[in-house]
Amino acid sequence: MYAITGITGKVGGVVASTLLASGQRVRAVVRDAARAQSWAERGCEVVTAYMDDEASLTAAFEGTQGVFVLPPSEFDPSPDFREARAVIDAVRRALQSAAPGKVVCLSTIGAQATETNLLTQRTLMEQALRNLPMPVAFLRPGWFMENAVWDVVPARDKGMIPSFLQPLNKAVPMVATADVGRIAGQLLQQAWRGVRIVELEGPQRVSPNDLAEAFARVLGRPVCAEGVPRETWGALFRSQGTKDPLPRMRMLDGFNEGWIAFESEKADIVKGEVELETVLRDLVSQAG
Ligand SMILES: NC(=O)c1ccc[n+]([C@@H]2O[C@H](COP(=O)([O-])OP(=O)(O)OC[C@H]3O[C@@H](n4cnc5c(N)ncnc54)[C@H](OP(=O)(O)O)[C@@H]3O)[C@@H](O)[C@H]2O)c1
Repeated sequence: MYAITGITGKVGGVVASTLLASGQRVRAVVRDAARAQSWAERGCEVVTAYMDDEASLTAAFEGTQGVFVLPPSEFDPSPDFREARAVIDAVRRALQSAAPGKVVCLSTIGAQATETNLLTQRTLMEQALRNLPMPVAFLRPGWFMENAVWDVVPARDKGMIPSFLQPLNKAVPMVATADVGRIAGQLLQQAWRGVRIVELEGPQRVSPNDLAEAFARVLGRPVCAEGVPRETWGALFRSQGTKDPLPRMRMLDGFNEGWIAFESEKADIVKGEVELETVLRDLVSQAG
């Protein structure tokens, strides 16, 4: 039995499907049981737990061969990262008490960075889980190709995608969530000792110009990328409701300046299979 958090989302759903396809039993860990009906119909056990609640998480993780931890996204964290720390504390204690056979935790490219930024939330998660007594793997994927969902409408309607990733010809490791979930599902079924870090990207690195060209092919119209000037980011993010834009801005700086990057040797970085155009076609058709 494998306990999967985030199962109603993109990555967690693929992790669960990968395990079910291998004949494994899956426990769907959800905060709202009504959202797990399709998983119950596919034969999963369904339990309710909150990611910051040690007691419900302990019950959810008990009696399992493996647990997949998907830390909830917090794009506007408090300066002391208290939201992430509450999750980290509850997850760590629950894993200690429930003692599953192994843990695969979704982390991120750049979790090793020492500069404070949005991804520091995953740095803290890795630090807290690395001393657990069972084998732990941190899966560090690149930038999700699905982040391009925000670019579909401007690409389609204006032939332009605004880019915070700069310069526009700098290629960034990107990966489809289908590959992230598949690799996580495979990791859960492997055996290892101690702490493992697995870095993952797609078949090719993608620059903002590459992204615009891929949109152009999918949409059948010219599309170009335009850099959003950094001096406008703070006011822009605040106008979109962000209380403190700095963590997100520093994350983008990290990609642009190169201190958010993979740390493994190139040959050790796992390569996914899903092409950018496949993801963009899905995003465009979902947008209607
Ligand atoms: N975007 C990127 O470029 C990138 C890159 C590397 C890593 N990541 C990581 O990928 C993860 C996001 O994965 P995804 O794209 O699969 O997300 P997603 O599709 O948005 O799904 C999020 C899942 O998390 C659950 N969830 C959200 N907030 C929760 C909370 N407070 N308590 C319990 N469950 C909660 C959701 O459940 P409900 O159905 O109840 O809402 C859903 O199952 C994050 O950990 C992020 O750091 C992202």
